[in-house]
Amino acid sequence: MATQNLDLVTPRVGSPRITVIGTGYLGATHAICMAVLGYDVLGVDVDPAKIDALASGRVPFYEPGLPEKLREALDAGRLRFTTDFDEAAAFGDVHFVCVGTPQAPGSHAADLRYVDSAFTELARRITRKALLVGKSTVPVGTADRLTALVQEVSPIGTELELAWNPEFLREGFAVEDTLHPDRLVFGVASEWAEEQLRRVFRPILEEGTPLVVGDLPTAELVKAAANSFLATKISYINAMAEICETTGADVTVLAEALSHDARIGGKFLKPGLGFGGGCLPKDIRAFRHRAEELGVGDAISFLDQVDQINLRRRSRTVDLARELVGGSLDGVKVAALGAAFKPNSDDVRDAPALDVARMLYLEGANVVVYDPEANVNAHRVYPDLDYVESLAEVVDGADVVLLLTEWDEFRDADPAALGVLVAERRIIDTRNVLDAEAYRSAGWTYRALGRPAAVEVPAESEAVA
Ligand code: UDX
Repeated sequence: MATQNLDLVTPRVGSPRITVIGTGYLGATHAICMAVLGYDVLGVDVDPAKIDALASGRVPFYEPGLPEKLREALDAGRLRFTTDFDEAAAFGDVHFVCVGTPQAPGSHAADLRYVDSAFTELARRITRKALLVGKSTVPVGTADRLTALVQEVSPIGTELELAWNPEFLREGFAVEDTLHPDRLVFGVASEWAEEQLRRVFRPILEEGTPLVVGDLPTAELVKAAANSFLATKISYINAMAEICETTGADVTVLAEALSHDARIGGKFLKPGLGFGGGCLPKDIRAFRHRAEELGVGDAISFLDQVDQINLRRRSRTVDLARELVGGSLDGVKVAALGAAFKPNSDDVRDAPALDVARMLYLEGANVVVYDPEANVNAHRVYPDLDYVESLAEVVDGADVVLLLTEWDEFRDADPAALGVLVAERRIIDTRNVLDAEAYRSAGWTYRALGRPAAVEVPAESEAVA
């Protein structure tokens, strides 16, 4: 398949030189992948620790496959890192800005100080025609504002152009999503800018990747709309889980039945503890905030409900745990399986798993946490919880086990073997990934979100399957 030929493509004569400003999750992946595609790339960050780690071949976060690509890119001599903006301005023809836009303290708005600073610092140093490309997720209207700002501070004025190229990569699949995306989106204000982006992404476009070209506000909105849609889909099925919980229906069977309708589809329709991470929660809040500012808040006020449904899954999990242990969590030993916001990640930003662990702790439970990759990050956020280094240790003597992040290690565990280690065979499967029957046969009380306490398989479910 053509996709295999993208690795370490030979550089083309006259290829643009690329800088990537911000070497966090998005920027590091983009810089490494651009070098793998054959371009000369300079990664830039204000944090010397990140720059030193990457320059010495170490990826400072967990992402399967990325360390190998970093090594390839460094060995090929196509990737360097610096903290020096003068060097970046002199080096690049196309500058990608990939800095974070976290939720602002005490508000739902996006905090744009890093974006503003990166664009300004670059712009005031650039002395030849160049393209600045934003990749960060920003409120609609930011690119137009930044265009005026950079052209004002730049020595070359309107010769410095700005484009927007939203990024849709998922943690855990960052390399695949960057090298072989579902689509590319270019937001441009001139034909020249579009041409530059087409050159930069040529190897990916040559694979037949769909390209959508629009203006700057449309490109900004694509990202907000996509993440809002995904969050809404997850909260939709979790709202159905709430209905199932009061009617005795089974949300996993319901979801499967819906998924066979090609118009609905099964992706992002997995009921459970809901969404977290560094993107979906803050992006829907920032979008909602921006719509209010623009006077069109009513158009997406449903996103408040999406957020609320999502957060209610966490308190419902705590209710279920309390119910299962007989009414009080005080002094109860809880085994928390997982801390990361999803498997194959060490990211605990807005992690539902860790939030549930925290809520249980606040009710007096003795919470022990094990995550295969996220223990260190989790400990930094909640040092009061106990952390252990293995599945066997976390369940040892537990009164109740909660599966909170669906790592393979937890899915594949043997219920009989786990049963020997716990004090009481009680498990809550908040991600609906375990074999309920296998657990029940091994003597466990198995509970899950959106499903009845004891499963009676309805005859209709066979017709659906
Ligand atoms: C997301 C978007 O998918 C990506 O396109 C965007 O660029 C950044 O935000 P990511 O944050 O890596 O990516 O996570 P994703 O795989 O989308 O999962 C988000 C959350 O939703 C996780 O907490 C996951 O557990 C949860 N989820 C996902 C569900 O609860 N049910 C589902 O069916 C799917």
